[in-house]
Amino acid sequence: MSDEVAAMAAAGPGPLLEGQTVILTGATGGIGSTIARMLVAAGARLAATDLDEGRVATLCAEVGAVGRAVDVADWGGFEGFHGWVESELGPVDGIVNCAGLWAPQAWNEVTPETWAATVTGNLGTAFSACRAVLPGMIARGRGSVVNFASTAGEYGSISPAAHYAAAKGGVIAMTKSLAREVSPHGVRVNAISPGPTDTPALGAASPEQKAATGARTLFNRLGQPHEIAGGCVFLLSPLSTFVTGHVLRVNGGSLL
Ligand SMILES: NC(=O)c1ccc[n+]([C@@H]2O[C@H](COP(=O)([O-])OP(=O)(O)OC[C@H]3O[C@@H](n4cnc5c(N)ncnc54)[C@H](O)[C@@H]3O)[C@@H](O)[C@H]2O)c1
Repeated sequence: MSDEVAAMAAAGPGPLLEGQTVILTGATGGIGSTIARMLVAAGARLAATDLDEGRVATLCAEVGAVGRAVDVADWGGFEGFHGWVESELGPVDGIVNCAGLWAPQAWNEVTPETWAATVTGNLGTAFSACRAVLPGMIARGRGSVVNFASTAGEYGSISPAAHYAAAKGGVIAMTKSLAREVSPHGVRVNAISPGPTDTPALGAASPEQKAATGARTLFNRLGQPHEIAGGCVFLLSPLSTFVTGHVLRVNGGSLL
């Protein structure tokens, strides 16, 4: 048995993220709020953020996290949030960039405003957050970044949403490029690519539409937020120390 396996066996099945400081963006969303609970359950010291101050405060009180509202796409604003988190919880070991914006429209109905909001909400947020956390991680020689892609970003969107697919495809390209740049310094950068997941973001869809979307998976159902959150814990944890530049598909086999 290697030293690492022996140490893990001796430690037993303790919380996977014990002692880690982790930032979560998009924390009050359908998937984010479940990720928040799972990260805390896995032992992380959590700093949560989203756009609405009241919702962030409620979530933090519920799960046992610290947090503030910030527009993650605002580079200076997020830089300030990151500094505040380090003063409250210490150096940041991991970040989950779950913030996103789903506003489906046919290609010929997309306006300059929708295009900008969608690219900024999905891709700009992830880059802004990476820009803030990576210098410290590189200086310490360790860290894990988990970005949020989508099956739409891999294969194109099933619902008309070319602008969203473009932004999520950008997240994948950015994740792989950043991994090339920073992993030689000990920092891992990966992405989760969820399939259709049962959250309020699917709001406008009828039960029939949801069922039809779920039927595209090999389990004939939508994914649940906790099934996406499990992938985040894995990618932040010591179980994935040789994983970087990877896009983890959590989609029920919907694209096989
Ligand atoms: N639900 C799905 O079926 C599905 C499928 C594939 C990918 N995803 C991705 O998973 C992530 C979570 O999705 P969800 O279903 O929970 O969506 P959601 O809309 O419920 O949550 C997204 C959260 O991001 C926040 N946010 C958006 N822009 C922000 C900004 N500029 N600054 C700070 N916060 C901001 C929103 O306020 C919201 O709370 C998103 O990135 C989404 O694109 C979701």
